[in-house]
Amino acid sequence: MSNKMWGGRFQSAPHAIMEEINASIDFDRKLALQDIAGSKAHVAMLAKTGIITREQADAIDAGLERIRGEIESGIFTFSRALEDIHMNIESRLAELVGPDAGRLHTARSRNDQVALDFRLWVRDTIDALDAQIADLQRALAEKALAHAGTVMPGFTHLQTAQPVTFGHHLLAYVEMFWRDRGRLRDARARLNESPLGAAALAGTSFPIDREMTARALGFERPTANSLDSVSDRDFALETLAAAAICAVHLSRFAEEMVLWTSRQFGFVTLSDAFTTGSSIMPQKRNPDAAELVRGKAGRIFGALQALLVVMKGLPLAYSKDMQEDKEGTFDALQSLSLCLAATAGMVRDVEPDAARMREAAGASYATATDLADWLVRRLGLPFREAHHVTGQVVAAAAAKKQGLEQLSLADMQAIDPRITPEVFSVLGVEQSATSRTSHGGTAPNNVREQAEKWIDRLGQASNSPETSRPIPSHQGLRSL
Ligand code: ARG
Repeated sequence: MSNKMWGGRFQSAPHAIMEEINASIDFDRKLALQDIAGSKAHVAMLAKTGIITREQADAIDAGLERIRGEIESGIFTFSRALEDIHMNIESRLAELVGPDAGRLHTARSRNDQVALDFRLWVRDTIDALDAQIADLQRALAEKALAHAGTVMPGFTHLQTAQPVTFGHHLLAYVEMFWRDRGRLRDARARLNESPLGAAALAGTSFPIDREMTARALGFERPTANSLDSVSDRDFALETLAAAAICAVHLSRFAEEMVLWTSRQFGFVTLSDAFTTGSSIMPQKRNPDAAELVRGKAGRIFGALQALLVVMKGLPLAYSKDMQEDKEGTFDALQSLSLCLAATAGMVRDVEPDAARMREAAGASYATATDLADWLVRRLGLPFREAHHVTGQVVAAAAAKKQGLEQLSLADMQAIDPRITPEVFSVLGVEQSATSRTSHGGTAPNNVREQAEKWIDRLGQASNSPETSRPIPSHQGLRSL
């Protein structure tokens, strides 16, 4: 039997392999609720403009509502032979409503329909991700406030550089995630135009009202060019690009959790809740959640790259290649959502070992810059000369296997006789951190102020639960 939706000119059914390569229902069923929302807006508009009668529209609308119920309760039967979500729903509608169901597709094509459904899904997902990132920021800012004065080594080249505070380090991520939210917001603003009514590619001769459907679906306006409407996937690309950058940030934090929970660093501990044991080495506690957050960045970057390649060089307007837009996007954004939830969980869970961090901050001459700065400030040395003198002091301390603080005044004066006992006031790690009061610096008072500012701002933005929950893999649909 040929396809009942488009089989008019076909004598026989497609080959099994054709069905296999063509069908998208296994993944685009995720768009079911968006598809129904789009159809409801479309049918209301068809009635309002007199393209179909009010009675026909009411029957179609009631059928769509019934299908929504069937899908939500898990009793809807999806069929591969019907290819995709659009035809699965339309076919069921015909069973429920009879031949008038066929009027729903007036002045519409699956090309604008899928562009609409996918946009709606991406938009919903951006909103869910934004709330999750805000929750992660809140977890970070709260931890930062609790540890505004907890001194730890700051690194460059992963070598101990200067003392910073744990709170300052956490707030660095709050900044990154704020930019991620900005990028998602930007993508959402550009996405928010309705392609519905572009039809197959050229628009339609029916007197449709695209403003009406755009408004009903929460869009700012209808898209301006019908060819662009059905062939544009920028909204998915932009969202994936923003997701990829966010995944970079998450992976950097995850990497630090992996490093810092190691015996060699011993800076932080994660509880049983976000670690696992080894089946062979009983002593082990592995930071698997962090490792997976770090690892999942790979599939998120991959989805962006894959969609860029699918879209590259495609002639206008719609081509079936574009059906390849969905799986990667679904997977990437759901993975990001899971990573955000896991990271927020780890942030709330993580406990720093303040003594160990402080000890590490004191090692490796982390206050050498403070000594050089003191030579500049107190003795009026040019910074380059102060740098040189400090280098000699560090070498002397290293030769004696001492820290800078332990080196005697006599030893320092042997290098530069102008050094006075006051120098010891800048060699401690707490003093070092406390002295970094410049805008954006690590001084505990700065950190406290910043953390409070963020908590304030984030508290107003949304009131999400303790730790955000990831988008369910079926996005709002049970049992799919
Ligand atoms: N399943 C298709 C997709 O995801 C829907 C659009 C099909 N359009 C068409 N002209 N065959 O792209």
